Amino acid sequence: MFRSVLTDRLQAAFTSAGIALPEGFKVTVELASDTRFGDYQSNAAMILAKQLKTNPRALAEQIKAAFSAEDLCSDVSIAGPGFLNFRISPAALSTKIQAVVQGAQCDVIQVTQPQTIVVDFSAPNIAKPMHVGHIRSTFIGDCLARVARFVGHKVITDNHVGDWGTQFGMIIHGWKTELDHKALKKDPIHELVRTYKLINAKTKEDESVLVLCKGELVKLQQGDEENLGIWKECVRLTLEQLEKVYGTLDIQFDHYLGESFYNDALAPLVEDLLARDIATISEGATVIFSDGQCDPKDDPFLVKEGDGWKPTPAIIRKSDGGFLYATTDLATIDYRVKEWKADEIWYVVGAPQQLHFRQVFATAHRMGHTTAMTHIAFGSILGPDGKMFKTRSGETVGLLEVIDEAIERARAAADEKDQGLTDSEKDEIAHIIGSGAVKYAELSQNRLTDYKFSWDKMLSLQGNTAPYLINAYVRTRSIFRKLEGSDVTLTADVVLTEPAEIALAVKLAQFAEATHDVLVDHRPNTLATYLYELANTYHSFYEACHVLNSQGTVRNTRLTLCEATSRVLKTGLGLLGIQTTERM
Ligand code: ARG
Repeated sequence: MFRSVLTDRLQAAFTSAGIALPEGFKVTVELASDTRFGDYQSNAAMILAKQLKTNPRALAEQIKAAFSAEDLCSDVSIAGPGFLNFRISPAALSTKIQAVVQGAQCDVIQVTQPQTIVVDFSAPNIAKPMHVGHIRSTFIGDCLARVARFVGHKVITDNHVGDWGTQFGMIIHGWKTELDHKALKKDPIHELVRTYKLINAKTKEDESVLVLCKGELVKLQQGDEENLGIWKECVRLTLEQLEKVYGTLDIQFDHYLGESFYNDALAPLVEDLLARDIATISEGATVIFSDGQCDPKDDPFLVKEGDGWKPTPAIIRKSDGGFLYATTDLATIDYRVKEWKADEIWYVVGAPQQLHFRQVFATAHRMGHTTAMTHIAFGSILGPDGKMFKTRSGETVGLLEVIDEAIERARAAADEKDQGLTDSEKDEIAHIIGSGAVKYAELSQNRLTDYKFSWDKMLSLQGNTAPYLINAYVRTRSIFRKLEGSDVTLTADVVLTEPAEIALAVKLAQFAEATHDVLVDHRPNTLATYLYELANTYHSFYEACHVLNSQGTVRNTRLTLCEATSRVLKTGLGLLGIQTTERM
C-alpha cells in the first residue's frame, strides 16, 4: 500500500540526508487531510525539528531533496510550517488499479507478523432475552474477525454463551410447572425467555417461589440427573436455534465454548490463585485485591473515595462456594492460551462490563499470561425517540426481531418498486438489503457512541446506508451486463488523465489502508466511511466521464476503474458481513 511504501522511502530519505533519527522516533505518513495538496502527508519533519530544535521548513527541504520516488510520486511539496505532501503519479496509480483488478483480495497486503487472535463476541445468555448489546457485539465482532482474517491473521471465533448461572434455577422450576412444550418446539428461545420472565416475576411476588428456584439450582449444581437433563435440553435447543440465526446472518463461530465448559476448571483455578497469593480469603469469600503495582488511578481494584482509595476486590468464589463470571473468564483465558496459543484475545462486549474486564486482565497478567487482551467496548442503541429501543410489538429488541422486521420492510419496498423480478428474486434481495441495512447501521457508527435506530434511515437508498452502497455496486455491474457478449479487455493499458479518473484511482488504492486501519483501534466504521466515500467518488467519476461511449484506451481505462470499484465495493461490504446482489 502507498502509505507504507512512502513511509519506508521517507525513512530512507532521512538516512541519505545524513539525519540521525533519535531512538524511538517513528516516521509516519498519513492520508492527506486536504487532497488539494497531495494524496498523502507527513509531519515527521515538524516533529523531528521540534526535538532537534531546528527550523522545520529547512529540515523538510533537506528531506525532500533526499527523497527519491520518481516511480511513485508526481509531486512532493512542502506546506505550512513543514508538512511534506506527496502526490501519487498517474503511472503508479495505473499499476495499482491493474493489481486491484487482477490480484487476489483487491491487492490488499498481508500483515508481516500474523497473530493468533481469539475473537469473543455475541455470547448471549441462554433463556435470558437477547438484548441490544448482543446485536452490537454480534456485528462488530463478526466484522473484526473478517478483517483480521483478511489481512492474514489466524482468527478463532468463540461464542462464550452464558449457559450456566442462576437463571437456571428459575428455568428448571418453570420447565416443571409452566413451560408450554408445544411452544418450546416451535420457538425455543422465545418460550424459554417467556418462562424465565414469568417465573422471575413470580419470585418477586412470592418468596416461596424463590425458595423453590434456589432448590432447583442447588440440585443442578450438585449434579441431579433430572435437572442436568433439563439444563442440557435448554442449551441444546437454544444453540440449535441460534446457529440458524447466525446462519441467516452469514456469521460463523469456530467454537461455542459456553461458560459451563469451564465448570471443572474453576475450583482448581481458585486453589491455585490462593496458593500463589494472588487471591485472598476475605469474609469467607475468595477475592483478589490490588497488588499495589500501579498508580491508584489506573488500578482496577481501587476506587476513589473522598481523598483516598477504597478497595474494590474481584470476587472469584463466594462464601457459599459459588463461582462467578470473573472466575469463568480467568479459566477461559487459561484455556485459550494453552489450547489455541492465543497471542491476542478480543472481547467485543458492552461498555458496562469495563471494570470486569480490567480486573480479569490484571489478574491474568498476575497469573503470568502475556497474551494481549482487549475489551472492545460499545455504547447503546436508542429508539428514534432517544429512549430504549423497542420493536413494533413493543418488546425490547432482540437480534431475531430486528432482522425479521428489516427483511420484511425491505421486501415491502421491493414489492413497491416492482421491476419485473420474480418473488424468489425479491425474497433474496430483501434478505440481502434488510440484513445488510441493519449491519451497516451498526458498523458505520463509532462503536463507543450511542446511536439512534431508524428504519427509514437505514433502509434509504440515499445517504450513508447499505442500500446506497449495494446500489452503487449494482450500477457497476449493470455496465458490464450491457457489454455482455462484446469483447472487453481489462488487462490493457490503463492510462489515467482526467481528474475524476485520478480521484477514483486514488480512492481505490486506499482500500488497503482503510482495511488495515480497521484493526488499529478496532473500528469497523473506518471501513464503512471509506466505502461510502468510494461510492461517492465513483458517482462523480461516472457523471464526469463517459464509459461506454468512449473509445480505445480511454474506454479500457474507465472500464477497468469500474471493475476495480465493483471489486472493492463487493470485497469491502463482504468484510462488513454484507452481501451484494447483481440487481435490485
Ligand atoms: N454473556 C455475557 C453477557 O451477555 C457476555 C460474555 C462476553 N464474553 C466473556 N468472555 N465474558 O453479558
